[in-house]
Amino acid sequence: MVSAQDINKQMAGAAAAEMVEDGMVLGLGTGSTVNFFLRALGEKVAAGMRVAGIPTSERTATLCREVGIGLLDFAEVGRLDLAVDGADEIDPDFHMIKGGGGALLREKMVAAAADRVVIAVDPSKRVESLGAFPLPVEVVPFGHQQVERRLDAMGISYRLRLADGKPYVTDNGNLILDCGMGDIDDPRALHDSLNAITGVVDNGLFIDLCHCLIVGADGRVEVIEK
Ligand code: 5RP
Repeated sequence: MVSAQDINKQMAGAAAAEMVEDGMVLGLGTGSTVNFFLRALGEKVAAGMRVAGIPTSERTATLCREVGIGLLDFAEVGRLDLAVDGADEIDPDFHMIKGGGGALLREKMVAAAADRVVIAVDPSKRVESLGAFPLPVEVVPFGHQQVERRLDAMGISYRLRLADGKPYVTDNGNLILDCGMGDIDDPRALHDSLNAITGVVDNGLFIDLCHCLIVGADGRVEVIEK
């Protein structure tokens, strides 16, 4: 049975596909909401729309191949017209936690290269304050224990992300520490202090990287511009 949450995600993803125009160069996010977007976009491509994009994960690349969306990389394009992605949490300032699907680094690189970033969510992702969702921090495997010691010193609890009982490895060959933050008072300051730790590749706080929020809820879609 399709859950109410999936219906909301599907509506948000389909509405995001309506924002794509012929000829656009896209950023293609990762996650279940984005998968609905990609399937809706694939139907437009099958009907003749010409678009291509940079995928933020191998999973997204695989689905793009399946539905006929052309793939690009940063060797070919420097700027993107539009990036579409999901979020794990988004606050009233449109700051986000992302990376629940492990694709935070490529997602952030793609969002930073996009003229416009559209985030599609179901209502559960909207929060007053970020931090209930564990904050993913991507670290290089070498000496990740040193990063863990720094987090200990900062009073931040963390868990090494596992998949099938083994350390989860990102598409970039790195590991993820999921950090239990509680309410994050100053997302920008936390973002900068985490990324200042040598061995941290990036963290899942996305600051000023959303221009437009699409929320699918109860059979309707709300579009909120920043
Ligand atoms: C992946 C992400 C996703 O955008 C986030 O996890 C939301 O996923 P979903 O649409 O499946 O709820 O950041 O790294």
